[in-house]
Amino acid sequence: MQVHVADHPLISHKLTLLRDETTDSPTFRRLADELVTLLAYEATREVRVEPIDVKTPVAMARGVRLSDPRPLVVPILRAGLGMLEGMQRLLPTAEVGFLGMVRNEETFDPVTYAERLPDDLTGRQCYVLDPMLATGGSLAAAIHFLVKRGADHITAVTLLAAPEGVARIEAELESIGVPVTLVTAGLDERLNELGYIVPGLGDAGDRLYGVV
Ligand code: PRP
Ligand code: URA
Repeated sequence: MQVHVADHPLISHKLTLLRDETTDSPTFRRLADELVTLLAYEATREVRVEPIDVKTPVAMARGVRLSDPRPLVVPILRAGLGMLEGMQRLLPTAEVGFLGMVRNEETFDPVTYAERLPDDLTGRQCYVLDPMLATGGSLAAAIHFLVKRGADHITAVTLLAAPEGVARIEAELESIGVPVTLVTAGLDERLNELGYIVPGLGDAGDRLYGVV
C-alpha cells in the first residue's frame, strides 16, 4: 500500500487543534472539514481526467475535465460523515455510497449495520473516508465490500492512522490483489490496550457528534 502522510504546516496546525481535548464539537467538525479539503488535494492526484478544449476571451486552450464514470466517495458512518462535505468540495460531481460500521469495543471486529453502494463498481475510482485507521478492521471490511463489486482503484483518506492498522491492511491486500493508497494527516505511534490510537484524538465519532 502506498502511504502518504501529509507534510504541510497548515495540516499539522489543524491536526494539533483537533487532537486537543479542550476543542469543542463545533470546532472539531470545522477542523475535520478543513483538513479533509486539504487532504483531498493529495488524495485526488490520480483522479481520471480527459482532454477538452475551451475558448478563452483570447484563444482556444487545451484543458481537462473529470472523466466518466464518476468517482465514488464512501464515508464510513458515523465518523466518516464528518469528512464528506470537505471531499465533495473538491469533487462536486462524485457519487456517494454509504457504509455504516461500528467496532465491537471488546473484540475490535467491525459490525456492518448499513450498506448502500452501487452494485457494479467496475472501472470506478473509490475514495473511502474514515477519520481513524486503528486496528484496520473497519477499513479492511470496507475494501472487501468495494472489491467484491469490481472496484480496482481505492484511495483511503483518514485523519489519523496507527502502524498496526496500516500493517493489517497491507497484509490483507496481498490476498486481494488490488492496490490501495492511504492519504492521512498523521501516522501515530501505536494502539493502546483499548484499541485507541496513541496519542490520537480520542473517539472521533463522539467528538464529532456526541457520545453514544
Ligand atoms: C471508529 C472509526 C473507525 C473505526 C476505526 O468508528 O471512525 O470507523 O472506529 O477502528 P478500527 O480501525 O479498529 O476498525 P466507531 O466504531 O467508533 O463508530 P462511529 O464512527 O459510529 O463512532
Ligand atoms: N476509533 C476512534 O474513534 N478513535 C481511536 O483512537 C480508535 C478507533
